[in-house]
Amino acid sequence: MDKLLIEGGIPLAGEVRISGAKNAALPILCAAILSDEPLRIANVPHLQDVTTMLGLLAQMGVAVSVDDKLGVKLNAAALNNPVAPYDLVKTMRASVLVLGPLIARRGEARVSLPGGCAIGLRPVDQHIKALQAMGATIEIEHGYMHARAPKLKGARIIMDLVTVTGTENIMMAAALAAGETIIENAAREPEVVDLANCLNAMGARVSGAGSDVIRITGVPRLKSASYRVMPDRIETGTFLAAVAATGGQVRLRETRGGILDAVLDKLREAGAQIEAATDSISLRMNGALRAVSLRTAPYPAFPTDMQAQFMALNSVARGTAQITETIFENRFMHVQELRRLGAQIEVEGNTAVVTGVDHLDGATVMATDLRASASLVLAGLIARGETTVERVYHLDRGYESIEEKLSRLGARIRRVR
Ligand code: EPU
Repeated sequence: MDKLLIEGGIPLAGEVRISGAKNAALPILCAAILSDEPLRIANVPHLQDVTTMLGLLAQMGVAVSVDDKLGVKLNAAALNNPVAPYDLVKTMRASVLVLGPLIARRGEARVSLPGGCAIGLRPVDQHIKALQAMGATIEIEHGYMHARAPKLKGARIIMDLVTVTGTENIMMAAALAAGETIIENAAREPEVVDLANCLNAMGARVSGAGSDVIRITGVPRLKSASYRVMPDRIETGTFLAAVAATGGQVRLRETRGGILDAVLDKLREAGAQIEAATDSISLRMNGALRAVSLRTAPYPAFPTDMQAQFMALNSVARGTAQITETIFENRFMHVQELRRLGAQIEVEGNTAVVTGVDHLDGATVMATDLRASASLVLAGLIARGETTVERVYHLDRGYESIEEKLSRLGARIRRVR
């Protein structure tokens, strides 16, 4: 298994390109199921989760090709196996995103129930409830959801809680349903908007994405389209946090303000000077890093996917920060590891109290999920001496060429196999 070796204590400086968003690319790849014509997708990040999703689509009968610029072309004309097997779903929960489009296009789907994961229970009851309201019958058999609906019907759906992939699944199902579907208490994440834009490019009629009420008028079929995936706001935030925590300066290209304002606000509160434009974001750290308290919540509030990275940043900031996690019940797995580097963190319920220390000391650490691993890389960049981050495969699921990009900013980081 690969490891990352990091020699910390160097302020990061320079310029780096931000990749396409993982959490926008994954649902957009699934949207190809909805049509028997090709969907061309640009700016798809080169990540393990994307490879897993392409494998899942290919075994369903979707023709997949990738060009030399990493543009992906999908054609689901010959889709013949509407199944997402356990072996794939257990490695990537986002596989559940095939459920809505499969029922809409084929009238049938067999998708493994995801089961719990490292950050929480993560049930899919809201996906099921909404599809049932649209006329699907869903039976749970041998750990699989077996869904059937000769023709889905539009419905008014009130989500009990805000769910990102739940909103995306229903939006895709509704695109080919008979009549109008209204999703209330919908997720407002920019990735939901990106999927809606892609669906509309394919001829769907989706309005209101980005607000908490989304309306979809079903159409008989979707057609060929080309679409470019939005920049990854979590990769953007992770690099900004790393540069702020090491006291450096950076210009991030091919990303933009307006998709992570809550994160930019917190970085400014921590002492960073930030300029956000339509195709880049620059950050310069001036003076001491100050502790920033935060509370995760659905967009536009502070994202749970940035919580761990801000824990690392706060561990060497001046003052004490309270970090409250409200989305996932078990997303503090990085705390134990950060403590091994010398961080002072106390956890009570869903709140962590971080008291900034003068410095962290390098050590060997390992994490059980993607964003926790990112926080350990940040901590390694801040710490004195050498840090070894084990189980890098978590990072490879969600960060494209992370060690190359960090090296370009002057970090001493290398992968050992
Ligand atoms: N939930 C339910 N029932 C449901 C669906 C969700 O109780 O039917 C609960 C979840 O257990 C959780 C909360 O609702 O407590 C929010 O979960 P959500 O469904 O919004 O999460 P998700 O769609 O499974 C996406 C991202 C995650 C990100 C969350 C929250 C993708 C592929 N994944 O997950 O990304 O943390 O939204 O913003 O879009 C990551 O990239 O590292 C990652 C975990």
